[in-house]
Amino acid sequence: MNTPQAGILLPLPPRARYLSFVPDAGEGAADCLQALAKVADGERTVVGLGRSLLSALAVDIGGLRPFPSLAGAGVELPATPAAIWVWLRGEDRGELLQRARRIERLLAPAFRLAETLDAFVHDGGRDLSGYEDGTENPVGDAATAAAIVGAERPSLAGSSFVAVQRWLHDLARFEQMPPDDRDLCIGRRRRDNEEIDDAPESAHVKRTAQESFTPPAFVLRRSMPWTEGPRGGLLFVAFATSFDPFEAQLRRMVGIEDGIVDALFRFTRPQSGAYFWCPAMRAGRLDLSPLRL
Ligand code: HEM
Repeated sequence: MNTPQAGILLPLPPRARYLSFVPDAGEGAADCLQALAKVADGERTVVGLGRSLLSALAVDIGGLRPFPSLAGAGVELPATPAAIWVWLRGEDRGELLQRARRIERLLAPAFRLAETLDAFVHDGGRDLSGYEDGTENPVGDAATAAAIVGAERPSLAGSSFVAVQRWLHDLARFEQMPPDDRDLCIGRRRRDNEEIDDAPESAHVKRTAQESFTPPAFVLRRSMPWTEGPRGGLLFVAFATSFDPFEAQLRRMVGIEDGIVDALFRFTRPQSGAYFWCPAMRAGRLDLSPLRL
């Protein structure tokens, strides 16, 4: 029986390393993928596959579409597709590096490592802005229902679709904002995480309130803060059974419906954006049967 990649549903690990691979000149993509399927346990190593890879293998996973390059007043969302996305979950940065190097070796020469990002859990689960992240995530069966394709799509049951965006915070700008303004940007109080009922329509949690969409737009967010030298932000990661709920939220964040742009953009911007399909597990390895592999 197929099961989800366990790392999708588990709590965040203390540390993580994200890898993005793009196609390289070499051949043997299918062999590389088979090798990856054997070493990825789905728990400490979560894998997503991009559209370019599936096209190269002449397969179509229904619903895996290109990341939308949306724009709103003064904001642009880049689309930066990749062939393979790997979320290495762990505790020790040295061990994560070793695992990353092993995966890089087995994916060469068909794929080239395009990006590496180190991430971590900050202050018990806060974004670098200091706000608790994940409060309104579905839990238990609701998390599975939101994130994992069920029996209604038998050929894809146990798999998931993931949206990934690297957001870069302008921490200096954020620090200049008065604390009350910061709370109104998010729509929750940093002090006690209480929702602010009379926050403006631009407040992030008003823009994205999952139950306010028709149909409701539930996703399972598994985002982690990242830093690189003096820069930092949030690696936003949302798993779902399709990209529709994420895209509905994103469209509202950039104001496509009503022209109101999410106040988050006052201090943070996305630098990347990509969609991947995360295969299910079968007999301890990634199930690549939907790819006829
Ligand atoms: C730097 C980028 C972002 C930051 C710092 C951020 C931060 C937060 C925070 C602090 C909350 C409130 C607590 C919670 O329920 O988790 C929240 C809620 C939420 N965010 Fe974000 N977020 C970011 C980007 C996004 C993006 C790109 C999306 C989707 C397109 C999104 C979707 C959501 C959703 C669905 C909720 C819960 C809303 C509800 O149902 O109450 N966030 N976010």
